[in-house]
Amino acid sequence: MSIKQLLIMGNPKLITPSIAVEDFNNPLLRSIIQDMHDTMIAKGGVGIAAPQIGYFVRLIMFGFQKSERYPDAQEIPFTTLVNPSFSPLSEETEDGWEGCLSVPGLRGLVPRYKSINYTAQDIHGHTVSGQADGFKARVIQHECDHLDGILYPRRIKDLRYFGFESEL
Ligand code: NI
Repeated sequence: MSIKQLLIMGNPKLITPSIAVEDFNNPLLRSIIQDMHDTMIAKGGVGIAAPQIGYFVRLIMFGFQKSERYPDAQEIPFTTLVNPSFSPLSEETEDGWEGCLSVPGLRGLVPRYKSINYTAQDIHGHTVSGQADGFKARVIQHECDHLDGILYPRRIKDLRYFGFESEL
């Protein structure tokens, strides 16, 4: 296992779009997933995307039982999604506070679709799909943004609601 150093906002690599995973037999895929898992757990994150630890492939992971960073959030089962995409089930959005392991110490109020359909592949390359709403839908949208080189501060509509978590 290894806990990786996280790239943080300002690093130009974080705004670079990632490429699709094509070779599901590559042992590197397993090792990236393990590193993402170990890093996410060590840092107390609820989700992580491969580019945050320096691998620019379309791979996200999320899940937690109880989060210290989001004490009100309901448990989400641990999930790894390869080449994920989503579409909103309706245009309805919801504002919610987000943080990011690549934006340490800060939180912002971000609108996200309330409910989505997502489709992806599992680590064996089999198609998986599902529906998500609320916080889980938010996490998936946040992590998918990372794969397109987008960090949540770009989604904040009103910068008055962006600040240090110690103050908010
Ligand atoms: Ni993030």
